[in-house]
Amino acid sequence: MAAPGRAAIPVHTLLFILLLLLPPPLRAAEPSEEPADTRGAAQARAHCVPAPITDVARLCVCDLLVAQCDVNCCCDPDCSPEEFSLFTACSVPVVTGDRHLCRQKAAVYSLDVGADPPERIFQLIDQVNPSIFCIHATNYKQALYLKSPEMPTPENFDDLLNEFGSAAFSAEPESWNTDTDAPDPPDANETQRYEYGVPVQTEDAFLRLPSPVVSSWCSDANPAGFLVNQATKCIRSVSVEKCESIQALNMLFYINSSILAVPKSSQMVNISVQSIVVQSLDGMRTLLKGADVLRLPMILDELCLNIVLGVSYHITYTDTGEIIEAAAAFVLGAITKEALSIQQSFQISFTQVDTKPVPLSGNPGYVVGLPVRAGFWPQGSGITQSTNKPSQLSILQSTSTQDCLAAQGARAPVLFGYNMISGCKLRITAAMKCQPLAQTLLDVLKGQNFPEYVASFGNSQAQDVLDWVPITHLHISEQSSCQIPVSFGIEVKWTKYGSLVNPQARIVNVTATLTTITLKQLPSGRERTIPVTSSVVFTDISSPAEPGYKAWPTINIKLPFDFFYPFV
Ligand SMILES: *[C@@H]1O[C@H](CO)[C@@H](O)[C@H](O)[C@H]1NC(C)=O
Ligand SMILES: *[C@@H]1O[C@H](CO)[C@@H](O)[C@H](O)[C@H]1NC(C)=O
Ligand SMILES: *[C@@H]1O[C@H](CO)[C@@H](O)[C@H](O)[C@H]1NC(C)=O
Ligand SMILES: *[C@@H]1O[C@H](CO)[C@@H](O)[C@H](O)[C@H]1NC(C)=O
Repeated sequence: MAAPGRAAIPVHTLLFILLLLLPPPLRAAEPSEEPADTRGAAQARAHCVPAPITDVARLCVCDLLVAQCDVNCCCDPDCSPEEFSLFTACSVPVVTGDRHLCRQKAAVYSLDVGADPPERIFQLIDQVNPSIFCIHATNYKQALYLKSPEMPTPENFDDLLNEFGSAAFSAEPESWNTDTDAPDPPDANETQRYEYGVPVQTEDAFLRLPSPVVSSWCSDANPAGFLVNQATKCIRSVSVEKCESIQALNMLFYINSSILAVPKSSQMVNISVQSIVVQSLDGMRTLLKGADVLRLPMILDELCLNIVLGVSYHITYTDTGEIIEAAAAFVLGAITKEALSIQQSFQISFTQVDTKPVPLSGNPGYVVGLPVRAGFWPQGSGITQSTNKPSQLSILQSTSTQDCLAAQGARAPVLFGYNMISGCKLRITAAMKCQPLAQTLLDVLKGQNFPEYVASFGNSQAQDVLDWVPITHLHISEQSSCQIPVSFGIEVKWTKYGSLVNPQARIVNVTATLTTITLKQLPSGRERTIPVTSSVVFTDISSPAEPGYKAWPTINIKLPFDFFYPFV
């Protein structure tokens, strides 16, 4: 502090110098602090072999005479080479250590009778014990021994009493003090969600799903439970004269009360009319165009029309248990004067709103076989991806009929790395007009919503617009007034990106080439069939890796300005 910039030797340098100056035993202070038995364990971890406790080379069971050579006792340290040469055999040929160990040292003694004079051979070998189950590694030291319980003594009694001396023994930390305050009242906002089975509330009571409760007659007291998908059928008595006044035959009865978004909330969700199907007396059903229209029961020529035969509710909710949409699909029918009762069917289903992000196709590079991700770039925001079924880049899907006009709408996703070709046949008759035909074919080839951008990586984020490659459109055509498209080819150029060991596939350019031909007017009565094709090709344009040499490291010498202080 006194002379900053002068004596500023970094602290770790000081420590290092100190360490060098320390005598070796102090440097190795940590291991020597351990008790003897754990030192053995540490060694076992390092070498997978416990250190031998007994030195087998010094064990000798046949050494009976003190300071004298025992005959044929090959391990007797008192015997001289001359005495060994007179032995006939080794009475104890092998001396081993602890047989409870997985591996042990063994001292093997033998006589080399071929030598002149015969001599004793001594070998120290490692034996593996095959008859015991060996665990060679352990990394959980605490599990190796059981801690013996502390016995109460006059000295430790108070400590033990503090630790264990409550009415009930608990191993939980003291901070979990349970007998203080009562638990906090649950947050009012937290309870504002529907839970499974809770009746779906409406402004007057709850959403009713009529059902046969005691008999087969409809009872309107059955509440629809949240997330409980149900389907019921029941019977109602009817009569043509009174049909306009029977509430349960009126569409309005099923939709006029709004649903509460969450229980006890003031936020309402109107029940919209999703569709209306009208069933005629002979059972024919027709879907009414332009739903949203209320059709109330009305009497006409001894018939009563527009009475409710079936209602199907469809509720959409979020993962926080809030209802955000409710729709009802109706089946309306007619009754004659003779009818005394009708059967009504009711249904309710719940769908969670799709909050899942569009799945990735690799991380970071594309994985072969996963969809090529694509989207649009509306000005002023990130890329938007369609979450619809053929959500990504797609091509025309061949159908069994091969009919182009019937194939409209069927699309297959473009999968990374898979070259695909599909097609259909177009029958052209003299009556066909050029312009609508060209538009239809374009729709067949490109689909309704051909994307503008393709993600360069499998994990490109929608907000990183620069990570998305615009699709380049090329058009090959002939000069004429009537052109119809006959082929649509997508070429995806990609490179290997990143290290040689784990290269990642990255799309760098996508071109879509539309080829059109001139449609010649056919003489009337004649027809012609032309093939229409759609294809996708993946081209690897990575340049091959070339061997290179690392530049020699250069030394960048920079001495501190006070390096020679105090000498200069
Ligand atoms: C519930 O949430 C609203 C808005 O999120 C907040 O204004 C209100 O204070 C919250 N009420 C409670 C009891 O936390
Ligand atoms: C809904 O309609 C039924 C019959 O049409 C009527 O009794 C009920 O009061 C209406 N409810 C509301 C909230 O308008
Ligand atoms: C629900 O319906 C009522 C009455 O028809 C209407 O005033 C209100 O705007 C509707 N609410 C919504 C969110 O559509
Ligand atoms: C892709 O390649 C085509 C043809 O080589 C070229 O015209 C186009 O500009 C390229 N697109 C991009 C985004 O580089």
